[in-house]
Formats: sequence, structure tokens, C-alpha cells
Amino acid sequence: VVMKEVFNTRSMEEELQAKLGVKEVHVVPGDSDQFPWVKKEMGRTCVNVIKRNLAMQGNIIAVTGGTTIAAVAEMLVPDSDLKESLFVPARGGLGEQVENQANTICATMARKAMGTYRLLHVPDQVSKDAYESLVLEPSIQSILKLIHSATMVIHGIGEAQTMADRRDTEEDVLAKLKEKEAVAEAFGYYFNKSGEIVHKVPTIGLHLNDLESINTIIAVAGGASKAEAIQAYLIKSPSQVLITDEGAAKEILAKL
Ligand code: G3H
Repeated sequence: VVMKEVFNTRSMEEELQAKLGVKEVHVVPGDSDQFPWVKKEMGRTCVNVIKRNLAMQGNIIAVTGGTTIAAVAEMLVPDSDLKESLFVPARGGLGEQVENQANTICATMARKAMGTYRLLHVPDQVSKDAYESLVLEPSIQSILKLIHSATMVIHGIGEAQTMADRRDTEEDVLAKLKEKEAVAEAFGYYFNKSGEIVHKVPTIGLHLNDLESINTIIAVAGGASKAEAIQAYLIKSPSQVLITDEGAAKEILAKL
């Protein structure tokens, strides 16, 4: 029975790699929509992938928010290689609750891994003028410089409507997302099913086009309900590693 499970997961991984055009795919057993422990398994797998991709020195790991990346943080343990790493949030606030914010997750990761961290203190919603003067602040400039030197990015992928609702999105944006048929969300960007950007939450930090110069980009997202979102986001995105679960994998493969 064990052999069969191993085999099935591996064949799903290979099929997903080919069909999604992602270099490396890991599928953990189960569906995180149904069982919370599956998220932890994705977290555990992600920790292994992080360790495997660390450079000898100068690692700067940028992380996004969300419950899945929070599970990655939970699974981190002190490690001699990670001890030298610096953790930073990938982007400023997106309207999430504290426990789901990139800043919080980044601090947890550093504490668990015994690494160091820097936070990005910017309000979630700022006017254009306030935003332009904020980014000129020396303290913000120095953290932004670190974020832009990230050697690794770990991010979640969300289902558009779920994310918009969870983040207390304004009515006009909700209407826009509906009209433009947004299905996926990552980094504060919303995408339609062809992977095109249909909306961007205004905040500072890493932008999609910054990802091209980053060595290791790891997407962690699972659950059958995220199948369409994962597939849509990966059409145009540069993530090289996808860590997902059987629930999402089966649903994606059934539709491809
Ligand atoms: O950007 C995507 C979201 O952060 C994913 O959130 O992991 O709680 O589903 P989640």
C-alpha cells in the first residue's frame, strides 16, 4: 500500500511538472481543505526545499503572508545553515489579520530557525502622496534594499474571491475583480484564468517583475479549492518550485 501511494504521488508530480511547466513539483498526501495537518506536511516539505536551496552565505529569504506560509514557519527548526539567514517580508500589508501578515510570519520564521529578520512597517492602505514620501524614508529604503536583494522567495497562492473577502476589500475593487473574472491571487496581485494581472493591491516591496532576478522561488498552495488558482497563477509566473497537496493535484490534473 505504501509503495502504491509513493508511486502515485510521484507520477502526479511528474505530470504536473510537464503540464504546468514548473521545474520541480512536490505533492503531499491528503487535501488541506479537509485536514489542517496537510498544510503542515506542505510546510515540512517546504522546509526541506528551502534547506536544499540555501547558498553558502548571504541568504535573504523573502516571505509572503497567509495560513500556508504560516504553516511553513511552524515547521521550521533551528538549523546551522539557516542560522545565517535573514528573513524579510516580501511586500507590505495587504489587509490581512496579524497572524496572516508577512511581517508576523517572517519574525516567526527567524525565531524558529534562529536566524535574523527585518520588518517592513507600512500601513496597508495609503494615499499616493503618503506612499511616495514613505518610500523615501531612510529606514524604509534600507529594508526595501534588502527585500530587493532576496535570494529566495516563498509565497502562497490564494483563490481570488476568498482572498478579497478575507482582506476586507473595498466594494469597487470587489466589483472589478468580479467583472475581470479574477481567479487567483499571489503577492497582492489578482489574475484571471489565463494568468493575466487584473488588479494589484497598492503596497511596496517585491513586485512581480522583480521575481525574474531571484534565484529560488517557491510557491506553496494546496486544497482542491485552489486548483484553478494555482494553475492560473503558474501560467505566466516564474516560480520554479510548487509544493502542493493531493487534493489540488488531482483537481488540476482532472481539468488539464
Ligand atoms: O497570497 C495568497 C494567500 O496568502 C494564500 O493564503 O495560505 O491562507 O490560503 P492562504
